Amino acid sequence: MSERRLMVEERRSHGVGGPGPAAAPAPALAPARPAAATSGVPEQAGQPPKFYHLSIEERIALLRAETGLDEQVLAALGRADPLPLEVADRLIENVVGLLPLPLGIARHFLIDGREVPVPLAIEEPSVVAAASFGAKLLRAGGGIETSATEPLMLGQVLLLEVRELEQGTQRLAARRAEILAAANARHPRLVAAGGGARGFATRVLRAQPQGAMVVFELEVDVRDAMGANIVNSMCEAVAPLVADCLGGRVGMRILTNLCDRRLARARGRVPRAVLGAAGVRGVHEASLFAELDPYRAATHNKGVMNGIDALLIATGQDWRAAEAGAHAYAARSGRYAPLATWREDQQTGDLLGEIEVPLALGTVGGRARVHPSVVAARALVGAGSAQELARIAAAVGLAQNLAALRALAQEGIQRGHMRLHRRGCESR
Ligand code: MEV
Repeated sequence: MSERRLMVEERRSHGVGGPGPAAAPAPALAPARPAAATSGVPEQAGQPPKFYHLSIEERIALLRAETGLDEQVLAALGRADPLPLEVADRLIENVVGLLPLPLGIARHFLIDGREVPVPLAIEEPSVVAAASFGAKLLRAGGGIETSATEPLMLGQVLLLEVRELEQGTQRLAARRAEILAAANARHPRLVAAGGGARGFATRVLRAQPQGAMVVFELEVDVRDAMGANIVNSMCEAVAPLVADCLGGRVGMRILTNLCDRRLARARGRVPRAVLGAAGVRGVHEASLFAELDPYRAATHNKGVMNGIDALLIATGQDWRAAEAGAHAYAARSGRYAPLATWREDQQTGDLLGEIEVPLALGTVGGRARVHPSVVAARALVGAGSAQELARIAAAVGLAQNLAALRALAQEGIQRGHMRLHRRGCESR
C-alpha cells in the first residue's frame, strides 16, 4: 500500500471521511451532508493530506467515502474514455470523435450548511485551486448562504404590422385563460408538477404608421427543466391566438436567455482575521474598480463565469445560455456591471460578498444526462432541483471571484497561474 493510500485509510479510520467501504449502500443521490467540524484557514499541521496530494484513484476513493455514493454512480470518474462513441454519435450530428476536458473537484464548499464537492470541467489551470481557496476563505466565515427565485422563464412571440394595438391588447386580456390553457396543453406533465404558463404581457418595440412591432411575452414556471423546449413549444402554440387578438403577422417565437426572473443568489463573509486588513481592503477596492469601470467588470465577470461555466459543463447544462444571460443581466442598467460585489463591513472589518446571477439550469430533461461523467458529477453535487443547482453555481461564482480578486489585489495573478501552467507543460 502506498504512503498516500495509508493516509487516506488513516483519515477514514478517524472518521473524517465519513463511512468507509463497508458502509451500507447509498441512495442514488447524496443525502444532505452535514458540515465537517473542521474549517478555517490556513490548515494546521497534522491535518489529513490535501486532496491535491492524493493520486486520482485515491481522490475518487475519498470522494466515495465522504459522499457515501456507490461505485456505480461514480463509475465514469477515473476513466479515460467515459463517453462511448456510440452515445456521442446520438448526442450531436456528424460525430468524428470526442474532445475530453479535465474534470476536477473543488473542495471546501460549505453551502447552506452542506458539504458540496464541486465538479469542474475546464482546461484552464488554477480555476479549480482558486475555487477551492475561495470556498475555504468563505467557509471560515460560516460558509456560503444561497437563495433562488422561482424558475420563471419568458418566451417571446414577435408580431409585426400590428395596427389595432389598443383593441388588440383588450382582446388579449379577454382571452387570457384560453391563451394560457393553449400553452399548458402542450405540457401537461409540467402542469402536474406544479409548473406551467403563468401570465403574459406585451411591449411595443417600434410604433410606425404602417403598424407596430410588438413583442408578446409569455411567463412560464418551468420547475426543474432548463425550459428552452417547453417555452419555445408554448410560444408556437399560442402564436396564432395572439395574432388573432392583436392582428398583424407572426414573426419569431423563442425564449429569451435574459432570464431575469430566474435568479440565483449567494453571499458570504470572510473574517478580517483570515484575510488581514490589507486583504479585505484590496478585495473591496477591486470590487469598486469593477463597479466603476465596465472594462474591468468584463474581466471580473469572466472570473465569476470561470467557476460557473466549469460546473455547468460538468453537470451537463447549457452553459452558453448561462453566459448569454449573465452578461445581458450584467448590463441591465444600461451600464455593464459586476455580478459579484464585495464590501468591508464597517463594524467588524470582515469582508462581505454577494452575487446575483440569472441561471436557467435543468435537472430533468436535456440530452447531456446520458453522459456518464455528467451522471457522476450531478451525483457528487447532490442538487435535488434545478434551483438548488443554480444556487450552488452562484456560490461557486462567488468563491471563484473572491480568489481572483484576492490574488489580484495582493501578490498578482501570474505567480500561481504560471506555476500551475508550468506543471501542465512539464507533464506533456
Ligand atoms: C482569468 O481566467 C480570470 C481573471 O482574469 C478574473 C479577474 O481578473 O477577476 C483572473
